[in-house]
Amino acid sequence: MPLNWVEIDLAALRHNFMQVRQHILPETQILGVVKSDAYGHGMVPVARELAQSRCHFLGVSKYWEAEKLRKAGLELPIIVLLGLEPEEMDAAIAQDIRPVLYRMDHARSLSQRAVRHQKKASFHVKVDTGMGRLGVPLEKLSTFLGQLKELPGMHLEGVLSHFAVADEGDKTYSELQLARFKEALQLTREYGFDVAYAHISNSAGLLDLPQAQFQLVRPGIMLYGSPPSDDLLNPVTLRPVMTLKARVIQIKKVSAGQPIGYGRTYTTSKVTTIATLPVGYDDGYSRHLSNKGAVLIKGQRAPLVGRVSMNLITVDVTHIQNVSEDDEAVLLGQQEGNRISAEEIARLCETISYEVFCSLGRNRHRRFLNGTFPE
Ligand SMILES: Cc1ncc(COP(=O)(O)O)c(C=O)c1O
Repeated sequence: MPLNWVEIDLAALRHNFMQVRQHILPETQILGVVKSDAYGHGMVPVARELAQSRCHFLGVSKYWEAEKLRKAGLELPIIVLLGLEPEEMDAAIAQDIRPVLYRMDHARSLSQRAVRHQKKASFHVKVDTGMGRLGVPLEKLSTFLGQLKELPGMHLEGVLSHFAVADEGDKTYSELQLARFKEALQLTREYGFDVAYAHISNSAGLLDLPQAQFQLVRPGIMLYGSPPSDDLLNPVTLRPVMTLKARVIQIKKVSAGQPIGYGRTYTTSKVTTIATLPVGYDDGYSRHLSNKGAVLIKGQRAPLVGRVSMNLITVDVTHIQNVSEDDEAVLLGQQEGNRISAEEIARLCETISYEVFCSLGRNRHRRFLNGTFPE
């Protein structure tokens, strides 16, 4: 039995997928973002459940992730959001893995390889409408499309962009991005491309900007049960998918004046019962939670006292009756009606739930619950 482990509730994932479905038009399709090991939730089992729930596309960031999905038998169209390196393109074409394109040299490489394979290579063009990160700048799109038009063996399947602040209450900048995106779509059509899929909405976009749904939406975080922000205009009922658990490995009663942990950053002020748990920053449990975080034991909150170390944390359980060694503690998730949320942990660590999931999800021991498929 592991000392600490992560549980992934696939029924909660299916519930969240249905929430996406309910927030979009029946004809709008869904690309499930499963990059970064499905935000730490396990890419292949998550992708299988999404496929079973009638998700239309899968989105990863790198080629090897797409290849792993194909090897696991997933047949849905896969989009590689960061695009492909030329040396990955032959295999990608053979497996119908579609890159996002934003560089003309990559477009030319893809075209050459498609011609060699006597196939049409499908791809999606990314336009930068204001994120300032990845994508063809809007003012260069015309030149890009003109050059693309000359390339044989190519099938422009989609045009995408990405919102920078769709999760903020003020939608002014998102509206501006949306207007630029529509301009980009218009231009692409003027060049004679038939854009089957226009897509710009992440979770926040699909919830709060229904006018930005087009043919495809790309939810990530909401599938994993975390709202994209506290400022959403349209509330949504999500179920957290990830739980982190550990077993108490030692209980001890210490006297007043006992320093706890590295650096002696906490000293007991009275007789205190300390439970030691085998979780640390090596398990993705941030050191920022030192003297700030809490865990659940017997359904009650036990505050972290002292520093988070590489493999251990210490919590004060003086107020909790009958805590024993080997009791189960919940560090993220629910226990007997109480909850430690990813948003709470993120706030304490001055980050976002996305990073909390990616960090904790790297756990060596992951248990999948309520899956449609045998593990
Ligand atoms: C291009 C792209 N689309 C969609 C998403 C999903 O965003 P969210 O998790 O906020 O729904 C991401 C996530 O980072 C992304 O990079």
